[in-house]
Amino acid sequence: MAEKFLIKGQKPLNGEIQVKGAKNAALKVFIASLLTDKEWEISNVPEIEDISREIEILKDLGVKVEKEASGDYKVQAKDIKKVELDSNLTQKIRTSIVLAGPILARFGEIKLSYPGGCLIGKRPIDLFLDGLLALGAELKEAGDEIWLKTKGLKGNVFVFPQISVTATECLIMAATLAKGRTLLKNAAMEPEIVSLTEFLNNCGAKIKGAGTPTIEIEGVSGLTEGKYKTIPDRIETGTFAILGAVTGSQIKIVNCEPKHLEVLWSILKKIGVDFELGEDYVLVKPTGSLKAMNVVTHEYPGFPTDLQPPLAVLLSQAEGLSMIRETVFEGRLFYTDILNQMGANIIMCDPHRIVVQGPSQLYGKKIVSPDIRAGISLLLAALIAKGESVVENVQQIDRGYEKIEERLQRLGADIKRVNS
Ligand code: EPU
Repeated sequence: MAEKFLIKGQKPLNGEIQVKGAKNAALKVFIASLLTDKEWEISNVPEIEDISREIEILKDLGVKVEKEASGDYKVQAKDIKKVELDSNLTQKIRTSIVLAGPILARFGEIKLSYPGGCLIGKRPIDLFLDGLLALGAELKEAGDEIWLKTKGLKGNVFVFPQISVTATECLIMAATLAKGRTLLKNAAMEPEIVSLTEFLNNCGAKIKGAGTPTIEIEGVSGLTEGKYKTIPDRIETGTFAILGAVTGSQIKIVNCEPKHLEVLWSILKKIGVDFELGEDYVLVKPTGSLKAMNVVTHEYPGFPTDLQPPLAVLLSQAEGLSMIRETVFEGRLFYTDILNQMGANIIMCDPHRIVVQGPSQLYGKKIVSPDIRAGISLLLAALIAKGESVVENVQQIDRGYEKIEERLQRLGADIKRVNS
């Protein structure tokens, strides 16, 4: 049944909020489990829609996935029954294309259709296909269907013409079981990639250089059993820090790794947010006036595109004219239209640039959440707005944030989940 959030804005917030495991790390480790027939234990997994959808895809292939407790899973890809992905399941989640790496490397074949996911731009898969072809795959395409085959992947040099997080992860997995040495150049450097490779190395892989633009992978014949603890979600951490700043609250964000967000901290400082960083916590303090600022999204270690929508809400409350340039995705600024309906003053210059004139009083509205990150930002906007908001299509928010309403209620927010 469709659910929605009812939010009464402008309630004072205060307290502690725990960061869950990183969606974009856990998703990839589940996929990587297809590299071996040995059992893996994966813990600190966020209980979110995207994980549930991915588990459905894995189970459909024959992967045994057992939930031991909330956030704790055992996975084993021993009795795989097919290498064809069910398009009804994969349409809902874009990471399904990453499965091509381990499945092709281990079973020599995969059939899938073009993946689904967020509505944030075209999001083609050419980099995955080019990379896998460089490692010795053959490709047949018919309409929406893709069929990749190989008699055995072989290490090679692949230079990404453009940086891609999931394509980097897919090729790392493929190269892990390929014969010989692979060099990936202009690779993505996200902390989730570093975490994935550290874990694969613990299971016997030979990967060097993750976290730099050049990754070297020496193929191995198999991986061992392993235990993975999902790293804290840096996007949740940043979103909660922005929540504290935009509501002028004192919020302690715990179970996080602030070192994964250095550029956000330097931006918040310039905007005038008062906060303290610990090893595994961030304490955001009530802030007075906020200053406008120009921000450009960038691959890691730059300012993350996934925090661009929450930051726009913050800048709508800052004094002066801010500009945001979104360089990673071309369709990720359209939610600003909804912020304007709530009272913000944002002009879209082109699909990559907005100008935000602040501060603006926001007003509660009935709004529909377009995707995960725009959805959480509209929720932030509703929390600072005058009056009541109704946020529909909350399953988009549930894709990335575990039980968000319960965690916000504990901070004092007036938010309820109701059936439509
Ligand atoms: N691109 C291509 N061809 C490809 C692959 C990507 O042109 O074959 C383009 C994309 O269209 C985009 C750019 O490359 O313009 C960069 O996209 P990237 O491939 O890095 O993004 P992604 O791997 O699809 C991951 C995260 C996103 C996050 C981006 C950027 C996962 C499952 N998703 O996506 O997370 O925004 O990296 O950091 O890891 C989210 O969590 O809300 C989310 C969208």
